[in-house]
Amino acid sequence: MFNAARITRFQKEQTPFYFYDTGLLQQTVDACRQASEKHAFHVHYALKANVNNELLRIIRDAGFGADCVSGGEVAKALENGFSADQVVFAGVGKTDQEINFALDADIFCFNVESVQELEVIDDLARKRNKQAQIALRINPNVNANTHEYITTGLEENKFGINSWEFNTVIEKLKTLQHIRCIGLHFHIGSQITDDNAFKSLCVKVNEFRRWFADRGIYFKVLNVGGGLGVDYHQPDRQPVVDFASYFSIFDQFLEREPGQEVHFELGRALVAQCGSLITRVLYIKKGINTNFAVVDAGMTELIRPALYHAYHRIENISRPEEGNTQKYDVVGPICESSDCFGKEVELPETHRGDLLAIRTAGAYGEVMTSSYNLRPKIRPLFL
Ligand SMILES: Cc1ncc(COP(=O)(O)O)c(C=O)c1O
Repeated sequence: MFNAARITRFQKEQTPFYFYDTGLLQQTVDACRQASEKHAFHVHYALKANVNNELLRIIRDAGFGADCVSGGEVAKALENGFSADQVVFAGVGKTDQEINFALDADIFCFNVESVQELEVIDDLARKRNKQAQIALRINPNVNANTHEYITTGLEENKFGINSWEFNTVIEKLKTLQHIRCIGLHFHIGSQITDDNAFKSLCVKVNEFRRWFADRGIYFKVLNVGGGLGVDYHQPDRQPVVDFASYFSIFDQFLEREPGQEVHFELGRALVAQCGSLITRVLYIKKGINTNFAVVDAGMTELIRPALYHAYHRIENISRPEEGNTQKYDVVGPICESSDCFGKEVELPETHRGDLLAIRTAGAYGEVMTSSYNLRPKIRPLFL
């Protein structure tokens, strides 16, 4: 990932910045497309992971649809050439304005998260003399075995419609004339590395699909969401995720009726490994038990470690050959103790001016930046 030419180029750049390896993104996207096409699965890119225009162009050109969770993301997808009939829109708190915007754009599907939202979309569609396509986002009560803040498919989570509400939903759908229910939607969480979670999801989807079929309700679309995890510890071991194994789980365990489509919403697995946060060491401070490497990026540029205690591999790319290592707490300049990218990180002896790469930062990195402490907006660099 970091050859001599790239490092020389980085030296000349103002830090911090996000570096995106567009070649790796292209390989990842191609691998995902080939593996999904084998089963005729449809993939929507979850924009929430990264909305950089350059990355969006590569993903759109691969023919993927867009999975959005706000009116802003719907607009972004359309501006970047994603076709409206491949746009899905989820989110527990869609505002009337956002719904109207998506109705006017004739998006493919609203993933509806509550009974009341059904009524609101129906009412707004009626006022526009339209019929909205919707999928019911179901809370399947499946444990994704991931961090609690990125688990979404348990009954205690705010997302989706719970099974005890199904009868109400069926009665409601009979009365709503401006809604066409075309699918079931699920998303159990993110950074899932345990295949069993996906198998359990398939078992639940089969149960729900049969429950509705027993009542004469059939769906054109089964949308099983995203969540496929990546290797944060060894990003170079398999930089392109094993999409073939992932999709084959669904091919094997998900029952389908004839003509039924299977849709996915992948974010992290597509963009995480192609991005790194490049930051410069400002100061080395000797501590009692550890040294501090104070860098010029902070939680304002990458919040995942502070927010989820997420691990990111950190490398000193200015000294790739040096073997003599020491331990450093790699910290940012923000006035919060949580502004720490890694504790006791083993690095070659590190000096002021060295460049560090914080790896696997392409997903949920640049999109979550903030201007806290009046920090300037970080730039991307594409190579
Ligand atoms: C509804 C929905 N779909 C898809 C995704 C994408 O998940 P991931 O980036 O883990 O693939 C998310 C992320 O949380 C989501 O909330």
